[in-house]
Amino acid sequence: MIDLHCHILPGLDDGAQDWAQSLEMAEIAAADGICGIVCTPHFSTVFPANHRTTILAAVEELRTRLREAKIGLELYPGCELSPQYNLLERIESRELLTINDNGRIALVEMPPDLITPNLGKFFGMMRGKGIDTVLAHPERNRHLMKNPSVLLEWIQAGVMVQITAASLTGYYGHAIRDFSVKLLRHRMAHFVATDSHSPGRTAPMLSEAHALTEAIAGPEEAHRIFYEYAVHVLRGKVPQVMPAISFE
Ligand SMILES: [Fe+2]
Repeated sequence: MIDLHCHILPGLDDGAQDWAQSLEMAEIAAADGICGIVCTPHFSTVFPANHRTTILAAVEELRTRLREAKIGLELYPGCELSPQYNLLERIESRELLTINDNGRIALVEMPPDLITPNLGKFFGMMRGKGIDTVLAHPERNRHLMKNPSVLLEWIQAGVMVQITAASLTGYYGHAIRDFSVKLLRHRMAHFVATDSHSPGRTAPMLSEAHALTEAIAGPEEAHRIFYEYAVHVLRGKVPQVMPAISFE
């Protein structure tokens, strides 16, 4: 399995606090059957310093430390980008990181309790400039829970969706778990990632969510969601995802 969204780099955001925590997270992930992690610190108004060069250097250092600790895990650079007015220019100028620095596909954070009418337009502008969006954890947004057809419109316009393993396993409560299941049933979840911030309560593990996904959407779809689609994205290729099933 590949984890497309993980705050494993230390000291850059509200994720791992030091190298010891990063290594602990890596050990947990490897033991859980994860073979690759995209390291995605926040870039936001709270964490405005996480530029491409900073993240690339931190990934390189963690790779060295994983080798020394003999932990078999591939690392890829990335960033969880909070939507803001000049984000597109800063991605284009390569000041900010796309997934695996591919210059083609960006991980964009869906804020938990906000939905701006301009968000759909923003994704369209990104596409217009040749940058596709993986939208992080829309299942945790209460407005989308009430109006999932908004998310469906974005998906039909080309947005890909990453839901969080802990949402599916019930860590955030029944409502978010049920919405996650609904998204899987409607082929509206293209990736399941850990969004892990520590080796503690939301440790980087995918196996339980994988088993649930197999039961809900079948083993083939689970393989696409936990591995195949991510391999495409790491190479800068937009995967041919299964078409979404509309709500009746
Ligand atoms: Fe995150």
